[in-house]
Amino acid sequence: MSPSKDFDPNDGDDEDTGRLFIVANRLPISIKQRKDGTFDFTTSSGGLASSLAGLSQKVKFLWFGWPGVDVHRNDKDELRKRMQNEYGAVPVFLSKQLAEAHYNGFANSTLWPLLHRLPEKASSKSEWSDAYKEVNETFADVLLPHLEDGDTVWIHDYHLLLLPTALRERLRNKKVRLGFFLHTPFPSEDYYSILPFREAICNGLFNCDVIGFHVPEYVASFLDSAEKALPDVERSPHDLHYQGRKIIVHHFPIGIDPTQFHRALQQKDSEEEFQHLLNTFKGKKLLVSVDRLDYIKGIPQKLTAFDHFLTEHPEYAGKVALVQLAIPSREGVPEYNQLRDEVERLVGRVNGRHSTTSYTPVVYLYQSLAFPKLCALYAAADGCVVSSVRDGLNLVSYEFIACQKRKADDKEGVGPGLLLLSHYTGARTMLGSSLIFNPWDTPRFAETIKTALEMPREERQKRYEEAAEVVESRTSLQWGLDFLETMKTLKISPDEEPAGVQQDAEAMK
Ligand code: UDP
Ligand code: G6P
Repeated sequence: MSPSKDFDPNDGDDEDTGRLFIVANRLPISIKQRKDGTFDFTTSSGGLASSLAGLSQKVKFLWFGWPGVDVHRNDKDELRKRMQNEYGAVPVFLSKQLAEAHYNGFANSTLWPLLHRLPEKASSKSEWSDAYKEVNETFADVLLPHLEDGDTVWIHDYHLLLLPTALRERLRNKKVRLGFFLHTPFPSEDYYSILPFREAICNGLFNCDVIGFHVPEYVASFLDSAEKALPDVERSPHDLHYQGRKIIVHHFPIGIDPTQFHRALQQKDSEEEFQHLLNTFKGKKLLVSVDRLDYIKGIPQKLTAFDHFLTEHPEYAGKVALVQLAIPSREGVPEYNQLRDEVERLVGRVNGRHSTTSYTPVVYLYQSLAFPKLCALYAAADGCVVSSVRDGLNLVSYEFIACQKRKADDKEGVGPGLLLLSHYTGARTMLGSSLIFNPWDTPRFAETIKTALEMPREERQKRYEEAAEVVESRTSLQWGLDFLETMKTLKISPDEEPAGVQQDAEAMK
């Protein structure tokens, strides 16, 4: 997986948008330092890394981001060379203390819960806000020497909301297009108003030419919040004007690269794992869930509903299993460790109640899975349960549909599995043919599991085909091209005073 190893800084890739620079906190690979001092490169987890990897199949870009580790200054040059040559990535090195306060602190303990409307999970410290601002400025300092007139910079996600302002302040005479895409939901105004330096965040985004969200609901919430935070915003149906500039704010639902999944399933190691899973769960219906271990994913709600289902329908004992893959995530944030304890306690409770010596209802894996095994798991399942209490989009739901192709194409077989999808995911607006449920409503969630297990093939096939059409056409490549195409339609940003610099300085105090 690589952005553009052969990215040539002198090569204008596209005469309309110039060279493309992607900036995201998370790089496609993360570095870990082994005890002996050598470095280990691992594929990064999560939807942002997956979707940008899909885009990189066709679009050339350099990817700037935090490598996930602080290294000794003697190692930095070597790592920079390796990351650019092997992965098309430019590491933005941060000290351990700064990265900790930015990533574990402001980004993941303050912003993340508030963006997902979970203020009870949020905490804040003034040193975290300072670190957040400093990291955004460090990114701007690292990017600046690379940028020339005509270039396009596409910034991603909540870790870098102040980067557009920091860049505009530095770019001054350079005509560079700036785009921003938020991979999380944007909350309604009552939650947004809790955010620290909220005016600076809106102002920051307004230094961009195009601002993208997954679905129309998030666009509407952002515009409502922006209007309240900044009175001189003028809104029209398709764009808005702020301090004399036109800014496009639009929804661009992300997707996956489905061919990558189809191809993996044809490989020997995937096929072996697929057959192994069919054997292991022979005579049982197999439900799967694939989640970063995050409180937004509704894992306790799912385990509670599964417990309820087995209690209410004892005839299913021994006939259904749930494989819950919990991908380790943000282990430096206390809320995530508490969640792990809660999930593991609940897994123990369900298994303690419903297991026999030859049956374990919940198979719990706290680990990352290699891609061929992940595809085999999706392909072997009779159902995928996505129970998020709030989720920007949710790519797992797309990946499950992509991997059900084989069962859907086999007219003699059992037919495709079903997607059980929480009402609180962005994906539900795209994958409306799934079984949509409310993860908080335990009895009805449990009945949805029963409905899925009992649905006749013909109806499952119909629902699958509707979903597959979306997954196959709304790919991550198409998403990227749509966003970049929208940037092209705008005149290159004029050489002007960055939006509301004075107000930002005030608001960030
Ligand atoms: N994934 C991963 N490691 C694994 C299993 C899955 O990185 O061991 C990927 C999965 O394939 C998907 C992403 O993690 O592309 C999760 O994306 P999603 O949008 O569902 O949620 P996010 O983690 O971004 O909140
Ligand atoms: C979500 C966020 C991404 C993030 C990913 C994985 O998808 O929107 O920005 O990269 O989760 O989380 P992590 O903290 O490991 O980067």
